[in-house]
Amino acid sequence: MKTIQIGLIGLTALLYAGCDEGKIYPPENTAGEEGFTVVLSGSITGAESYAATGYSPVLAVFEEGSEFAEVSKAVESGSDNVELNNVKVENGSVELCVINSLRKRILTLASLDIDASIAEKGGIVRFDVGDVNISPFEMISDRIFSTTCIQCHGGTSHSAAGLNLSPEQAYSMLVDVASTVEPGMMRVKPEKKDQSTLWEAVATDASANWSFNHSNLLPSEQSAFIGNWIEKGAQK
Ligand code: HEC
Repeated sequence: MKTIQIGLIGLTALLYAGCDEGKIYPPENTAGEEGFTVVLSGSITGAESYAATGYSPVLAVFEEGSEFAEVSKAVESGSDNVELNNVKVENGSVELCVINSLRKRILTLASLDIDASIAEKGGIVRFDVGDVNISPFEMISDRIFSTTCIQCHGGTSHSAAGLNLSPEQAYSMLVDVASTVEPGMMRVKPEKKDQSTLWEAVATDASANWSFNHSNLLPSEQSAFIGNWIEKGAQK
């Protein structure tokens, strides 16, 4: 009897040694019902520019079809590892994005789809975003100008109103530059969105009188984000 007991103990010890090898969490914590962990890696800059804006740069998980973050964690400049634990969303996405105070997604810089197979596997989802600048201006330039405006403002041939919104030129073409469309106004006058034709273009119907009506180009949350950037000083 003694020998059998010793044998069993020995075998159990062996099994444990085998299971633990190379695992970060014990197996019982990685079951699907416990959710999974998202680990963001990369080098983030620009996050500090959100202080007192009402917006936050976050690592967030969204349920498919929802614009509101299910769970989120603030990212900071210089932090190279951000973790979200116990995520239980089965279909949706994990995103490096900016949300407003209602946790609504405003603009997304990088995302990764989550499907049931990832969720079931449990454990860890690695989300590497590389070197990214998430500052408000970079988000506007990269996620709005370069997607929605560049075909008329910049790109290859000409720039409407002489306004080039390509990443290299957008800032210097906008901030403290006199408008060519509305006499007496600036394209962007820091802290004064009402004196900025950028705000007029994306958030009002003033451009109905221009040769191209801009009024419905952007969802209102994105126009509001641009207005907030102007009001907070239009930092680069
Ligand atoms: C289909 C072409 C087109 C698209 C797309 C477009 N624009 Fe324009 N934009 C124009 C034209 C044309 C003018 C000049 C209007 C005029 O002279 O009456 C203009 C003028 C402007 C002005 C005024 C410039 C000044 O000197 O005051 C701003 C600001 C502007 N656009 C911003 C944007 C932004 C931001 C987007 C994207 C969200 C955008 N535009 C998308 C065609 C376009």
